[in-house]
Amino acid sequence: MKKVHSLTGMIDLIGNKGIKNNVAEKIFYTEKVLKNIFNNYSISEIRTPALEDTDLFKRSVGDSSDIVNKELYSFLDKNEKSITLRPEGTASVIRSIIEKKIDSESHKLWYLGPMWRYERPQKERYRQFNQAGIEFLGYSEGLAELEIVSIICSIIKKLEIDDSVLKINHLGNKESKQKFCLALQDFLKPFSKELDERDLQRLNSNPLRILDSKNPETQKILQDAPKIKDYLSNESLDILELIKSTFSSECAIEIDYSLVRGLDYYTGFVFEAVSSNLGAQDAYLGGGRYDNLCHELGGKAMPAIGMAIGIERLASITKPLEKPQTLVSLILISSNIEPKAYKIAHKLRSLSNSINIDVQLSDGSLKSKLRRANKDNASYALIIGEHELETETVIIKPLKDQNSEQTVMSFKDIESFIKEIE
Ligand code: HAM
Repeated sequence: MKKVHSLTGMIDLIGNKGIKNNVAEKIFYTEKVLKNIFNNYSISEIRTPALEDTDLFKRSVGDSSDIVNKELYSFLDKNEKSITLRPEGTASVIRSIIEKKIDSESHKLWYLGPMWRYERPQKERYRQFNQAGIEFLGYSEGLAELEIVSIICSIIKKLEIDDSVLKINHLGNKESKQKFCLALQDFLKPFSKELDERDLQRLNSNPLRILDSKNPETQKILQDAPKIKDYLSNESLDILELIKSTFSSECAIEIDYSLVRGLDYYTGFVFEAVSSNLGAQDAYLGGGRYDNLCHELGGKAMPAIGMAIGIERLASITKPLEKPQTLVSLILISSNIEPKAYKIAHKLRSLSNSINIDVQLSDGSLKSKLRRANKDNASYALIIGEHELETETVIIKPLKDQNSEQTVMSFKDIESFIKEIE
């Protein structure tokens, strides 16, 4: 029979606690660390639906972005309404805040979940991937920028990310952005015939995005174009310097005046963290300020800043720090399911949170079960057979230390054993 396959660019994550560097385990671990850090910064969780009205992303992420132009997973539902699997989380968060009429309050929110973009799959670029994001809503430029960068530094430190550089830039305030965009348009108009269709469209709709063009011809033309740095106000330049001087002892930070982000809603401070260990898709997180989005989506004027982390990319450059939890493999050798023996397993689990108890559920010989325990990287096998049931004892077999002998312990002493190895 023909086999069914997963869709291109969509991966399964299958955890296996016994295998060192199992990709799924690394991802789950990374998510756990991120959640701890978010809670540590007193940020609350938000969950929004995976499906949204297509219009939401067209109006937020924007027509000049690759995401809206060619990567949306959009479908007609049974009512002929165009709906889209979210390509990112920011738009949905703002939609939700406006809908709940809480857009005049400030919020610190985090989310974690799958996003979908119809991209050409390659290393660490998927069509379904996971993002952990933060949105600080109702906070103007200043402390919120510092807080976001502080979180990024904490992530880099906690997960020991090597070769990470946080690139930062400022897209200017309304006035300077307008001046720069006009200057860029004036400069590029004589080259209109040399620009490809996408860049020409960007030139009219969002000239800043041309700086992000992947076309080498455009990049060549841009070499002599006006530079954003020359248009930035002193306040904008100062905030970049302030961020750099505050955190450069914590993590590598570089001001990169050519950094513009791939989404249309950004207004001020923008950033991307890259690592040379990632290859072509080197950004593992990105974000920035988007002070106009809430108003543009029909809500109040609400300043905002946020970021999103590509979980798969971050996990791939993460060194797991957590020492693996001790695993105890419980082997019951009896022809019947013995309530007395199973109760021991139940009791063991209630004794410690840091020790994992794996009851071997399959039939099989003691030898095959010990082989399985070793494969799973268990530290001890606890063996209970007919004789042990009669005498209310357990055989404890250390699996990691070749020189240690197995011992026999009574049911009632098992608690002290668990405490000992905890
Ligand atoms: P973004 O730069 O489009 O920003 O995505 C953030 C991160 O998601 C990227 O740096 C990357 O690590 C990961 N990512 C994006 N596409 C893929 C893919 N196809 N496969 C694997 N990972 C991917 C945003 O999404 C904004 N919403 C960030 C933000 C929040 N700005 C303000 N608030």
